[in-house]
Amino acid sequence: MGIELFRIAQISDLHCGDSRFEEGLMLSAIQEINEAEPNVVVVCGDLTTAGYLDEFEQAKNYIDMLRCPIKIIVAGNHDHRNLGYLHFENMFGTRYKTYDLQFGMSSQDGLDERIKFVAVDSCKPDLNDGEIGREHYDWLKEEFAVENTFKVFILHHHLVSVPGTGRERNIVWDAGDVLARLRGAGVNLVFCGHKHVPYVWSVSNMLLINSGTASTYRTRGFTEPSYNIVEILPGDVVVKTKVPGEDFAQEWSFPRYPVF
Ligand SMILES: [Fe+2]
Ligand SMILES: [Fe+2]
Repeated sequence: MGIELFRIAQISDLHCGDSRFEEGLMLSAIQEINEAEPNVVVVCGDLTTAGYLDEFEQAKNYIDMLRCPIKIIVAGNHDHRNLGYLHFENMFGTRYKTYDLQFGMSSQDGLDERIKFVAVDSCKPDLNDGEIGREHYDWLKEEFAVENTFKVFILHHHLVSVPGTGRERNIVWDAGDVLARLRGAGVNLVFCGHKHVPYVWSVSNMLLINSGTASTYRTRGFTEPSYNIVEILPGDVVVKTKVPGEDFAQEWSFPRYPVF
């Protein structure tokens, strides 16, 4: 008997050390995520402002307060400043990682599905731009060459422009090639951060899910700080964008495409 619901909390752009960081937002988000009891927490980068050790220590303290046993953390462009990725590796391990987990759902022919996460570092030291890089394409293909599996890709930068974020400068340089490879691999979800604006695109049977900044007022216009709760059900994927400390959540609902 499957669990019939797999819940992922997605937070990003904590920006510890920033003058616009607000601890009240961070603590509310942590408490609410703990209450939601997600199966996995995904942290989509920019834990820090300038990659300094004390900023990473602060971010790690907050991340440690999340009780979820599986936390998948990628670095953002701010985490790469001042060689900050060395601190990132010290605290959170390799910048490229995979998790292959029980999913609790069954396909139409009755087989148990699994869920696989592939997380990458899309950053270039001291640049705001991102790239996955041709040298990683074979690895991605191998990692996603699994059957009967719900496939999730995680990076900091985004693959498609996010509305309300000005002129586009920070899509990964090789977005077209990466999108085609993800589609070819049958990827179901992509998690991104970076622009501090939550949004969901449905592209070629993939949902591209951007999270806002969870704990700062580095926001744009009327966009509020937020994080996402993503619920994968047998027939749907529901994305709830939640402002920490407030009851209201914006909901986006999509059909769940079958796994390959
Ligand atoms: Fe950011
Ligand atoms: Fe960023």
